[in-house]
Amino acid sequence: MALQKMTAKKIIEKKKRGEKIVTITSYDYSFAKIVDDCAIDLILVGDSLSMVILGYKNTLSVTMDEMIHHTKAVTRGVSNSMVVGDMPFLSYKIGIKEAVKNAGRFIQEGGAEAVKVEGGAKICPTIKAMIDADIQVMGHIGLTPQAIYEFGGFFTQGKTVEAAKKLIIDAKKLEKTGVFSIVLESIPWQIAKLITKSVNIPTIGIGAGSHCDGQILVINDMLGLFTDFKPKFLKYFGDIGTSVRKAIKNYKNEVERGSYPDIEHSYEFPKEDLNEIESWFESVEIEEEIK
Ligand code: KIV
Repeated sequence: MALQKMTAKKIIEKKKRGEKIVTITSYDYSFAKIVDDCAIDLILVGDSLSMVILGYKNTLSVTMDEMIHHTKAVTRGVSNSMVVGDMPFLSYKIGIKEAVKNAGRFIQEGGAEAVKVEGGAKICPTIKAMIDADIQVMGHIGLTPQAIYEFGGFFTQGKTVEAAKKLIIDAKKLEKTGVFSIVLESIPWQIAKLITKSVNIPTIGIGAGSHCDGQILVINDMLGLFTDFKPKFLKYFGDIGTSVRKAIKNYKNEVERGSYPDIEHSYEFPKEDLNEIESWFESVEIEEEIK
């Protein structure tokens, strides 16, 4: 049975029905196609791309052009999941006009259906301008990695009464502005539960406990492909890193031993012409041809 394309509206309806929303990041065609086949509701082309694909030390280095390049690759592999492009550092906080233009690039060039931006009340006027331009927006509060230097590191947020209140207010303001969902990253589960209760749009947690309406994980993290560090919330659902290492070692051994490629993995020259090419190869004609 063909699956139906996921939309922001359908994702909101899932919350109303009490159904969990499952989301994962992707950055390329092959993984996006597998994720899409698994009927995942939403694929985020996250700016985590900066770290897990491009090897930078944080998410601040990835550019708009790099994000668009990978968003295009993902959308080519997706038929059913909703695709959201993550707006990178400096692409939406310098000026509202530039923010809308950059958001539009994710839709027009990247083929995404929405964008995600980090921040609370402060970012609402920018989000409003995007929505006025018919661009759907996903919010992101808590540990927002683009503010890593402001936080002083990858620390859990919302751990004081004051900080928790601010998160709840931020979530409600984002909802009022019109975002279709909010990522809650690295906050105490009790605060995520309160936020989830206080808004009618879905909350998507990462390090925010089980009471969120949905969950998101970085695909390279959950598959054990990116192991530079392991936050408390991360569970390895696979160990692709070990499988890849094993496969590469096997390949190396077989090439070195000469057992790969064997006949089964080689192309055949037509039998009836084999004598002719072999005797030509042994003849002097070949020398004359290259003169
Ligand atoms: O960039 C990303 O992958 C994200 C998710 C972790 C929410 O923002």
